[in-house]
Amino acid sequence: MKTASERRTKVKFPVDTLLLFSFTGDNKPAGKWDAIDIKLQQKFNAAAKAEGYTGKEKETFSFLPADGKPAARIVVAGLGERKRFDGERLRRSAGFAVPRLKAAKSIDVLLPMEQRLAVESGDQAQAVLEGLVLALYRFDRYKSNASDNGRATESVRVIAETDRQRDEIRAGLERGEIYSRATMLARDLVNEPPSSGNPRWLAAQASGTAKKGLTVKVYDEKKIKQMKMGAVQGVAIGSTEPARFVHMTWKVPGAKKTIAIVGKGITFDSGGLCLKSADGMLNMKGDMGGAAAVVGIMSALPALKPKVNVHGIFAATENMPGGAAYKTRDVLTARNGKTIEIINTDAEGRLILADALSYASDLDPDEIIDLATLTGAVVVALGNDISGIFSNDQDLAGRISAAGHRAGEKVWQLPLEEDYMEMIRSDVADMKNSGGRWGGAILAALLLREFVADGISWAHIDIAGPALRDSQSGYRSAGGTGFIVRTMLRYLQDLQA
Ligand code: BES
Ligand code: MN
Ligand code: ZN
Repeated sequence: MKTASERRTKVKFPVDTLLLFSFTGDNKPAGKWDAIDIKLQQKFNAAAKAEGYTGKEKETFSFLPADGKPAARIVVAGLGERKRFDGERLRRSAGFAVPRLKAAKSIDVLLPMEQRLAVESGDQAQAVLEGLVLALYRFDRYKSNASDNGRATESVRVIAETDRQRDEIRAGLERGEIYSRATMLARDLVNEPPSSGNPRWLAAQASGTAKKGLTVKVYDEKKIKQMKMGAVQGVAIGSTEPARFVHMTWKVPGAKKTIAIVGKGITFDSGGLCLKSADGMLNMKGDMGGAAAVVGIMSALPALKPKVNVHGIFAATENMPGGAAYKTRDVLTARNGKTIEIINTDAEGRLILADALSYASDLDPDEIIDLATLTGAVVVALGNDISGIFSNDQDLAGRISAAGHRAGEKVWQLPLEEDYMEMIRSDVADMKNSGGRWGGAILAALLLREFVADGISWAHIDIAGPALRDSQSGYRSAGGTGFIVRTMLRYLQDLQA
C-alpha cells in the first residue's frame, strides 16, 4: 500500500473514495471538511438519516453523492463521544470502516482534527493507517480459494491543512506502515499451524528477517546442551522436535542504552504429561505469541532505526508428553545454576524463559523486557483485552504502560508480592515451578525474577489474554493479534527522544 500526505490545496477533488469520521450526536463530519465542499453537510445529513447513523462507535455508512463531489463515494465512521476520544478510538473506527471500503483502489482521509482533540495529526494518521491495514489482514495461506478480495486498496492519502501538519502526517503514516507490517508478521507466525510452525521453522523465520543491520544467531539442540540450558532441555525432551535458541541483534553506533527483549516460544503447549483438556489445548499453537512478537519487533528495526541497541531473544520448543518427557518431581538445573522442582509440566513457559532471561542477563543490558503467553491466571484477572505487567523498576513499568496507551494496547500493572515467594519454595530444589492456582500470574513472575541478574531493570508482560482472539473485531484479527508489537516499537522509539 502506498501512503501519502497532501495539503488540501494540492489535492485534486473529486477523489475516488473519501473517508470521514464523526462524533455521536454531531450532524456533520469531524474536521475541516467545509472547505472541501460546502454542500457536503446537506448530503451527509440526508444520507445519515436514511441509514439511521448516529456516530456511535462501530457505526459506519457510505453514500454516493449524486454530483460525485467531493468524492465518487463517501464513507463515514463513528467515533463515539467526543470527550472519550483518543488515538485508539480513531484506530478502531478506521478498522470498522474497512468492510465499506473494500473495493476502494485509493482512499483519501480527512482526520477529525480539532483544537481540543489532544492527539496530534501524525498520531492520528498513524492510527487510521494501522486501523485500515490491520483490518484488511487475512491469514489465507491454507485457503484453497484465497482471493485478493478486500486487498484492492493501493493507496491511502491523508489530507493536511498546513505544511507542518503535512510533515507530521507523513512521519505518522511511515510509522503506521512499519508498525502494521511488524504486527502482521507476528500474526502470521502465531497463525501458522503447529506442526509446520515448529521450533525449527520459527527459528528459520527469525533468520529470514535478518536484513541489513540485523544479525541473527540460531543455536541448535547440541549448542543448547553446551550452554547448559537445562530448563529448555527439560521441556523439549518430551517432543520429537528439537529445540532452538534464537538471538537477534540490532546495533547502532553511539547507542546510549541496550535493551533485551525476550519471548516465550512454545510452538505447541499440550501441557506435557500434565496434559491439557481438549478445550484447554485448542489455542496452544499460539503459545509462541511472545517469540512471534520479538521477531515482529526486531524485523521493524532496520526501517525504524531507533538509536538504542536491541537484543531479541527466545527459546523455541514444543511441550509434549512423549515417552522421554520430563515428569512431575523432576528437578531441572537452569543455565545460571539454579534448580527448579517440577510440580506441573504445564507450567513450562517460565522454565524456558528462565534460561533465556539468564542468557539475556549475560549480555549486560540496561533493561530486559520479556513477553509471554504465560498464565491462564492473568486472563482470569484481566480478561482478554488487557495484558499484565510486572516490574522491579516502577519507572520502566510506567514508560511501557504509556507506550501501550499511545499504541492502543492495554498494559496493567500487577504486584511482585514478596510474601508469595514462600509459595514457590521447594523442599528439594531452589524453587518449584508451580505454587497452585491462587495468584498464579504473580507466582510465575516471581519465578522469572530469579533468573534476571541483580541490577538489571526488568519487566515481564503476560500477554496470555490479548495475544489471541476468538473472533475479529475491526482491526483486531481473529487468531493471532500481534499484540504488544506496536507498544514495544513505540517504547523503543521513545527511548531515543
Ligand atoms: N500457555 C499456558 C498459559 C495460557 C493459558 C496461555 C491460556 C494462553 C491462554 C501456560 O503454559 C500454562 O499452561 N499455564 C498454566 C500454569 C499452571 C499449570 C501453574 C495455567 O495457567 O494454567
Ligand atoms: Mn503450559
Ligand atoms: Zn504454555
